[in-house]
Amino acid sequence: MRVHVADHPLVTHKLSVLRDRATQAPAFRELVAELVALLSYEATRDMRVTEVEVETPVATTTGVKISEPLPLAVPIIRAGLGMLDGFVKIVPACEVGFVGIVRDETTLQPQTYAKRLPEDLSNRQCFVLDPMLATGGSLSATVQFLFDAGASDVTAICLVAAPEGVQRMNRDFGDKNVTIVLGALDESLNDDGYIVPGLGDAGDRLYGTA
Ligand code: URA
Repeated sequence: MRVHVADHPLVTHKLSVLRDRATQAPAFRELVAELVALLSYEATRDMRVTEVEVETPVATTTGVKISEPLPLAVPIIRAGLGMLDGFVKIVPACEVGFVGIVRDETTLQPQTYAKRLPEDLSNRQCFVLDPMLATGGSLSATVQFLFDAGASDVTAICLVAAPEGVQRMNRDFGDKNVTIVLGALDESLNDDGYIVPGLGDAGDRLYGTA
């Protein structure tokens, strides 16, 4: 498993505005899309491509197109849905699968209530979208679904992570082809399961239910 923390002033600037409790849902949604686009640039660095011939108005040259099977984006519902637009803008050719997981607020354990993925994921590069890597329970369950369906190359894009979530992913997938691309690695997780300093409940802030 590899962890890549984006070290870029634009990412840090946008994350700072996102963290601000005064930032309202419309701006929050826009910033999430912009951040995901920036993080996707890093996350797709090893995307598989196939050489193609391109005729320019002047000459013939060699270019590339994204290889088939096409990459699969997997937003974890609900908050991951807020990241889908940003990813699709950068990788319009991607296909999309969905996993619905809620965290039981008492036990903090993930519970799956929806799953819609292609049956066979062999040879597909999968990109899981999950804004907050907190305990790692939801992300670990989702990545396991993908491996169970034949995937062998999974990248998770998260805006903010707690060290506890990264450790959990490392424990579960340390020897697997899993990459985690982060906007920031924060300090800790509090007793309520929130990332500190974090940005609060990403789903509530995206959808205005806070
Ligand atoms: N989920 C969130 O939305 N925020 C956190 O801080 C942790 C989990």
